[in-house]
Amino acid sequence: MRPSPLTLLLSVAAASPLTTDQSQSSTQCPLIFDGRIPVNLTLSSFDSATTSPYSPSYVKGENLTWSSILLLPNSSTSYTPSRFDIPSAHKPFEVTISDASLFRSGQGLQLGFRRAGLLLRDDKNEVGGDAADKGVVTFHWSVAQDEKRAMNLSHEYMNVWHERADYAGNQFSLLAGVVLVQDGGNGVDTKAEREMWKVVGRNNTVVFRTPIQWAGWENWAVQLDYEKSTLQVFYSVGNDPLKSVTDRIPNDNSGGGQLQLGMAKKPTETKTVVWDGYQEPLNDRTEGQKYGGVFVEDSSGGCVSL
Ligand SMILES: *[C@@H]1O[C@H](CO)[C@@H](O)[C@H](O)[C@H]1NC(C)=O
Ligand SMILES: *[C@@H]1O[C@H](CO)[C@@H](O)[C@H](O)[C@H]1NC(C)=O
Ligand SMILES: *[C@@H]1O[C@H](CO)[C@@H](O)[C@H](O)[C@H]1NC(C)=O
Ligand SMILES: *[C@@H]1O[C@H](CO)[C@@H](O)[C@H](O)[C@H]1NC(C)=O
Ligand SMILES: *[C@@H]1O[C@H](CO)[C@@H](O)[C@H](O)[C@H]1NC(C)=O
Repeated sequence: MRPSPLTLLLSVAAASPLTTDQSQSSTQCPLIFDGRIPVNLTLSSFDSATTSPYSPSYVKGENLTWSSILLLPNSSTSYTPSRFDIPSAHKPFEVTISDASLFRSGQGLQLGFRRAGLLLRDDKNEVGGDAADKGVVTFHWSVAQDEKRAMNLSHEYMNVWHERADYAGNQFSLLAGVVLVQDGGNGVDTKAEREMWKVVGRNNTVVFRTPIQWAGWENWAVQLDYEKSTLQVFYSVGNDPLKSVTDRIPNDNSGGGQLQLGMAKKPTETKTVVWDGYQEPLNDRTEGQKYGGVFVEDSSGGCVSL
């Protein structure tokens, strides 16, 4: 049974005396896609659609496999589970980029950007092609930083976004670093601005910003109401319950598409982003983002997991 907003509130309130700081929250609404990683998956599980919750084929550099791009924790005691991962059932994963995170268009390698982004296996790249493109839908993920594979925030990064089926834009994006002016950046290049998460809507206007946390999890949810054409952002740090951090903001959510989780590192000093600009050589280094608690839920009954 789908809880109404009222019963949801009551169940959260009733549960709180029993919980401790370490406890996780379970999902509370009907799931559309579950991108949480079962504890028994190995890296090679991500190369096959029969074992991976994500597409084994996209969106990754030419010649690369997901088993070479992703990292998994070395042991069950080497990480703290994120808020919506059940400790005995799920584990986090890390998406990395390297100098090899390159794509080809025709004869040419697209040398401007470096990118690796997971797509949920059943998330179709069509308008209205799946249940995450209609009604009211909340996209959830948690993210944590890896100090050994830190982003270079002189660059713009896209970390999570919902890309339209025509690839001409995104309904929303989570960005870090210095956002390029052609992507709606404000031209400010200060330490504070670089080290700030920025959530942008369809027209690249920033609707929420908050400092990047260097330790522990940050939990995000973005709700798209396809009927009323609105977007609402929820956020919390560590194991705190999600809180709404924006109103329901008008947003054009049309165009279908897919949720993508990973990293897209844009060049500096660029006109086209794709073909030109500067990328520092990483040489043997990689940069990474840790993800956990990825799921997409049906919020059409007013339900949202907090
Ligand atoms: C993980 O465990 C599940 C449930 O026992 C099982 O169905 C699945 O085959 C296992 N996956 C791998 C990759 O071992
Ligand atoms: C992928 O492999 C082909 C064949 O070896 C090679 O020509 C191409 O340069 C490689 N692509 C990248 C991005 O390294
Ligand atoms: C797991 O251990 C290996 C060997 O020490 C190390 O190279 C790797 O980075 C570790 N994985 C993670 C996710 O930390
Ligand atoms: C862009 O979106 C923001 C947030 O919804 C809105 O306030 C603003 O009016 C929009 N701007 C344009 C030019 O549509
Ligand atoms: C960060 O990126 C900028 C622009 O590519 C580069 O000049 C700088 O050396 C990089 N910094 C570090 C610490 O890698």
